[in-house]
Amino acid sequence: PYVVTELCIKCKYMDCVEVCPVDCFYEGENMLVIHPDECIDCGVCEPECPAEAIVPDTDPKAEPWLELNREYSTNWPNLNRKKPAPADADEYKGMPDKYAKFFS
Ligand code: SF4
Ligand code: F3S
Repeated sequence: PYVVTELCIKCKYMDCVEVCPVDCFYEGENMLVIHPDECIDCGVCEPECPAEAIVPDTDPKAEPWLELNREYSTNWPNLNRKKPAPADADEYKGMPDKYAKFFS
């Protein structure tokens, strides 16, 4: 499956939601996650994310996020429609260490 990583935190552009054919994104306050058992590995979301937050699970950057995607996708609500990104999303684009600063 594909995995949402730290770069999504506080950006939440949600272009990924718009293109996912199986609606496997789940929404937390500060980021989205992908349900690993629902993702069909189509890859269309990866290039759509302006924050480059989505990677395949074979990417080394995915490793710290695998469990988090699995865990939170079973607790957070499903999202099947794109909503507006936070007004300050661009301020957080590419910012390092967002997990430590903002994850909740
Ligand atoms: Fe959805 Fe395809 Fe992205 Fe998986 S890879 S989350 S199925 S768009
Ligand atoms: Fe996050 Fe990128 Fe989707 S910032 S909400 S993974 S488009």
